[in-house]
Amino acid sequence: MTRPKWLIASAALVLLAGAAQLARTRTSNPPEGTSEALQAPPEVAQVLERCCYDCHSNRTQWPWYASVTPVSEFVVKFVAEGRKRMNFSQWTALSVSRRAHRLEDIVEMLTEDEMPPKEYRLMHPQAIPTAAERELVIRWAEAEARALRTPPP
Ligand code: HEC
Repeated sequence: MTRPKWLIASAALVLLAGAAQLARTRTSNPPEGTSEALQAPPEVAQVLERCCYDCHSNRTQWPWYASVTPVSEFVVKFVAEGRKRMNFSQWTALSVSRRAHRLEDIVEMLTEDEMPPKEYRLMHPQAIPTAAERELVIRWAEAEARALRTPPP
């Protein structure tokens, strides 16, 4: 006896819906956690949000190609790795000394112009900071790190 066509068709539909759901879950954002989010002066926050938040916050703006296999594998892993290293949405969850350390990492990355990563720049030219913007963030990060490293009186 052959299986009814409708049974096969509905099984296929369920599978497809499942796959679509999976892609959507993986590219959805965890809650922002506003109470732990980084507070920075607006001109600094603007640069960080435009250039860094896709990978270093829970506010990722997922590109359309993040749902296209096999690119999706790469993008999803990349964002997960970026968030794991440093997440501006959970900034104050870090100890003071780890925050200072991250700020020093930011200075280093921007001085050497290593972030955002090359692979990302190609698809997001608008997220490349200008020299002046890098300078602005470097000066802010240096001052913040110094303040965090200074013990309260
Ligand atoms: C497209 C994703 C992406 C964007 C956008 C991005 N990063 Fe990253 N970042 C990563 C990944 C992935 C790593 C970990 C691997 C590595 O170090 O290359 C990382 C690592 C870092 C680290 C090192 C943390 C550590 O553990 O030492 C710093 C600091 C950093 N990024 C700062 C920035 C800054 C500042 C910006 C914005 C100007 C930025 N990143 C934009 C993906 C990104």
